Amino acid sequence: MGPFDTSRVAVPGEPGATPPKLRTGLRSRHLLSVGDLEGDEISLIFDTAEAMKEIELRPIKKVPALRGKTIVNLFYEPSTRTRTSFEIAEKRLSADSLNVAVAGSSMVKGETLFDTARNLEAMAPDMIVLRHQASGAPFQLASICRAGVINAGDGMHEHPTQALLDGFTIRAHKGQIEGLKIAIVGDLLHSRVFRSNLLLLRALGAEVWVCGPPTLIPPGIERFGVTATTRLDEAAEGADVIMMLRIQRERMLGHFVPSLREYFMVYGLTVERVERAKPDVIIMHPGPMNRGVEIASEVADGPYSVMLDQVANGVAVRMAVLYLLAGNPDEM
Ligand code: CP
Repeated sequence: MGPFDTSRVAVPGEPGATPPKLRTGLRSRHLLSVGDLEGDEISLIFDTAEAMKEIELRPIKKVPALRGKTIVNLFYEPSTRTRTSFEIAEKRLSADSLNVAVAGSSMVKGETLFDTARNLEAMAPDMIVLRHQASGAPFQLASICRAGVINAGDGMHEHPTQALLDGFTIRAHKGQIEGLKIAIVGDLLHSRVFRSNLLLLRALGAEVWVCGPPTLIPPGIERFGVTATTRLDEAAEGADVIMMLRIQRERMLGHFVPSLREYFMVYGLTVERVERAKPDVIIMHPGPMNRGVEIASEVADGPYSVMLDQVANGVAVRMAVLYLLAGNPDEM
């Protein structure tokens, strides 16, 4: 029974209800890197996310778990999925949340992240969700803030909640992660989603293959216990999961692929290439995807695609992360 299944009627505000006990478990008040999470913490996040999914089925999709908490969503880079799912998650947990849009703030006048954070901090938020173009920015923020900091994507470094929702989605479809052949394909070099997934999936015992053009595979990646190949057919052969990554042209300072048309010919996931994988393979993509570049529309919209499950699970996983971080009474 999860933290919100406490007899279903145990929701504060409802007649006869007793407040749900906050279940603590995350050792830090911040979520900056998947590498900071122990295996039991990852399992706790997944199990808590299962309980959160039950809330989505209720006529009133709201619980008072974070009532009185203030959460600032501070996004310096564009986002569709992460920003909206954090905001929905915060509202479903009854937190007071606000979005700081870079275009409408004093950041356009040259204010630094440090000064912006110090001024936001003066208004006593409990948590700050930060997306920033600089790798390491959430670590800097955490070092100067009393508020808990959640990394919603920092440069080319990490995107921990994306990896958690990916792992949660794989577990939901496959029952487990240990022993699965998971092929991660595309622009590995510039991908924070890849880095967080690498840490998560290896920690959970997956057999991770990585595939892309030689220019987009980080040198020495085998040291992390993965098998690297430049041949997509080899990566896809017998795979349980194929995770496609976007070519991140906005982060490229040179020419890494001859042309997008040629890239699709060699590394685009087509129906024929999917047929090399296990019959029950699932196809994942963190979004936003470039149809006809890393993935064919027939695959993206096909029967093996779980991309919209990933998006749906993003809300439950982010609810779980917010709930567990806020439930750390020693730190908040
Ligand atoms: N997957 C992901 O981070 O998507 P957004 O950039 O839309 O948030």
